[in-house]
Amino acid sequence: MSETVVWSFPTRILFGAGSAVRVGEELKALGSKRAFVVTDAGVRGAGLVDPIVESLKAAGIESVVFDGISSNPLEAEVLAATEAYRNAKADGVVALGGGSPLDVGKLVRLAATHPLPLAQYDDAIDGWQKITKPVPPMVAIPTTAGTGSEVGRSGVVTIQATNRKVVIFAPRLLANVAILDPKLTETMPPRITAATGMDALTHCIEAYCALGDHPMADAIALQGIELCGKHLENAVHDGKDLEARGAMLKASMMGAVAFQKGLGACHSLAHPLSAEHHLHHGLANAVCLPAVLDFNRSAVPEKIARIAKLLGARGENVETLAFECSGAVRALRKKIGLAEGLGATGVPEDGLPKLAKLALEDACHRSNPRACTEEDMLALYKASF
Ligand SMILES: [Fe+2]
Repeated sequence: MSETVVWSFPTRILFGAGSAVRVGEELKALGSKRAFVVTDAGVRGAGLVDPIVESLKAAGIESVVFDGISSNPLEAEVLAATEAYRNAKADGVVALGGGSPLDVGKLVRLAATHPLPLAQYDDAIDGWQKITKPVPPMVAIPTTAGTGSEVGRSGVVTIQATNRKVVIFAPRLLANVAILDPKLTETMPPRITAATGMDALTHCIEAYCALGDHPMADAIALQGIELCGKHLENAVHDGKDLEARGAMLKASMMGAVAFQKGLGACHSLAHPLSAEHHLHHGLANAVCLPAVLDFNRSAVPEKIARIAKLLGARGENVETLAFECSGAVRALRKKIGLAEGLGATGVPEDGLPKLAKLALEDACHRSNPRACTEEDMLALYKASF
């Protein structure tokens, strides 16, 4: 008998300009009476929290706001948020922001109901098997378009003792409802729009190329790639373009739905760049993606040719198209104003061997279509320099 595979597609998703005001009725329908709103100071400063709190109030839900989340969440922040959740006697979570507040929202639900330390749930050691109890309901509202964390079943946290970015991955961590409101991403600055958008594109590309049989993920990933190819540039250059903003929210959400299939070497290269050198996660992916596409070309030429076409390359010859794919990504990266190599981001060249070791320890490359050694990781960093 052949192996059985699992295809999941469970989140309720609301989409539309202005749809964030539906948060109160959605959380109420999930049975919550006291909400813990997880966000960061930037989102709060942009005035995006008050309408959420008002919507909750209108639905009869009291709320406590926690905004102590940094851009690469630390274990200590998750634990502080969990304590605040308990002190608030909350019974539901609203996570509002970029990937970080959304991830922390999920991890608060984990830490409030399961034993610590968080490191034991690391996906690299199959920690999901220990996530066995129900967690409180959560509504996720993204204010960036990149991680797709609102429909993802993972949270990323840096464990300070080891300085490693750990991915905690479990179906129970999925948000119950995601609300995609393009209006909330209007004020995102061009640089963040570009970096987060490249993260979304990388998710779609890596999921599509990943090992495994998942036709739903593949189809969703392909559509996500097409949306990024058509709309990322416009979203960067005109923040008020709600069609482009909406398209990038869709692509971001689709990337995260698709990467339940798996990611690849690019994310394994990106994670140590953030943990060691504090590079923005999307920028780290954008810098490494072309070299990874070239590396994977021999393993999945048809897939890489198809990606190239979706990003604007012409012709029918598979080999030629696959060859052009990395160039298409470089061209897009240039048009949206991101760094064109690791050197330009300030990462020192003599630090690459250590990064290569860490990249190999990261779990994401296990589903890369071509197996990677430490030497491969080092060569990929050098090719991305
Ligand atoms: Fe990512």
